[in-house]
Amino acid sequence: MRLTRRHFLQSALSAGAVAALPTTLFSGCSVSSKAGTATAASTPARQFSSSFGSSAEIAFPKGFFWGTATAAYQIEGGWNEDGKGESIWDRFAHTLGKIKNGDTGDVACDSYHRWRDDIALMRAMNLTSYRFSISWPRIQPSGSGAVNPKGVDYYSRVVDALLEAHIRPFVTLYHWDLPQALEDAGGWPNRDTAGRFADYVQLVVQALGDRVSDWVLFNEPDAFVDLGYLEGTHAPGRKSLLDFLRATHVVNLALGEGFRAVKAARPRARVGTAFSMSPCEPASNSEEDKLAAERAHAITNIWFLEPALRGRYPEALTFLPETAMGIRSGDMEKTRAALDFIGINLYYRTIASAPGAMERTVHTQEWLFPVKMDGAHEGPRTDIGWEVWPKSMYDIVMRVTRDYNRPVIEITESGCSYNDAPDASGVIHDPRRISYHHAYLAALGRAIAEGADVRGYHVWSLMDNFEWADGFSQRFGLAYVDFKTLKRTIKDSGRWYAKVAAENRVGAG
Ligand code: FCB
Repeated sequence: MRLTRRHFLQSALSAGAVAALPTTLFSGCSVSSKAGTATAASTPARQFSSSFGSSAEIAFPKGFFWGTATAAYQIEGGWNEDGKGESIWDRFAHTLGKIKNGDTGDVACDSYHRWRDDIALMRAMNLTSYRFSISWPRIQPSGSGAVNPKGVDYYSRVVDALLEAHIRPFVTLYHWDLPQALEDAGGWPNRDTAGRFADYVQLVVQALGDRVSDWVLFNEPDAFVDLGYLEGTHAPGRKSLLDFLRATHVVNLALGEGFRAVKAARPRARVGTAFSMSPCEPASNSEEDKLAAERAHAITNIWFLEPALRGRYPEALTFLPETAMGIRSGDMEKTRAALDFIGINLYYRTIASAPGAMERTVHTQEWLFPVKMDGAHEGPRTDIGWEVWPKSMYDIVMRVTRDYNRPVIEITESGCSYNDAPDASGVIHDPRRISYHHAYLAALGRAIAEGADVRGYHVWSLMDNFEWADGFSQRFGLAYVDFKTLKRTIKDSGRWYAKVAAENRVGAG
């Protein structure tokens, strides 16, 4: 069950295992707590009030981007074609027992060959933005050195075709597929990886920056370092608290360096990151739980944002294991990046409470940062088990708007898994997906009406694809993919979204 998938430090590694590490590693600094000033995000929101339903018609600002999102490993296939190197996801998926049903991304949606079909889907849906990712090992097969020209050609063709279709190419530079050679050299816990990343970014921007203006440096840093280095359920499958802590800091350094690499090549490019965010609500009205909700917000939502925007780790934490994280003097200047927009990936909310003394000795997360986080269970669940709670969209967008002085926001992902299949005549009726996006968009519309500066919404996903450790068992697409024939068919939700995009509004529900 992936209810906790995005929950930073949710590992059940015992505190005993932590205690076995040299204590000097956990020297750190105390950080003053500002948690008492928390506002809306920590207000219990138990009511799914009608304003978060779909009753009113909502118009979006002129020029609002209607998009979808995908990621290279989840759709491309062609895993070893045209000089592409092995990625950590290739290695992980080829390892028995890591992915549900033994699925792999070797072929996935075959977008490496069928990208024209993908763009045709987007045209049919009247879309104006496509967030897709570049596979690092397609560009640099072993993570450093010269570019693989065939890899660059592939993305170049996709970009040209998007522009021709009047669809904005919105390019993610890292959506989890690190070249395996870099993992062999230490992966994200190795500080050198930050420099490697900046070199790779520079190569991509040199190749595509004449046509691409909008860049997402990382997709969900907290998810890939947590699941990849602490939980071990995603590539590269490590389970080490120390590697995890180091990786978080190296990724923050890479974010700063990557930002500067884009700007050096293209000063006017717009650069951001897609953070996985989840409004953190206290489990009760007690002061302890409210403080815990602030800590949850700190480690779930802004761990990779505060170092970029403010040159520090979140203040709501009482303790920061600086030594274990490998923080060196001068680093917090290097992590700084004046992001042009904040990308929000939003799926569900988090309920936070203060752990008891016993619990703190069992869970690493609760030992290091005293907060217990759970999914919520009041709203209906999607097929992957995540709670549908449209107000979470409003809450997180308003919180970011308030806390960061009305930044430009892009909803870089939101979506739901429903496994509706074609009926006898091949039509895919997926009314629950329509309701989901309708309600999340209505909540977003309300945030915009109250002052949030949101420029676009990207449905996860354009089409059903390889859902990481869940393989092909979860369908998030607006288009159905038959994984035997690789044929794509637009679902009812895709047709509905086409209308929303064309009219620039969600109608009364
Ligand atoms: C997000 C990931 C994306 C996809 C969706 C369902 O966390 O960024 O690749 O797996 O979840």
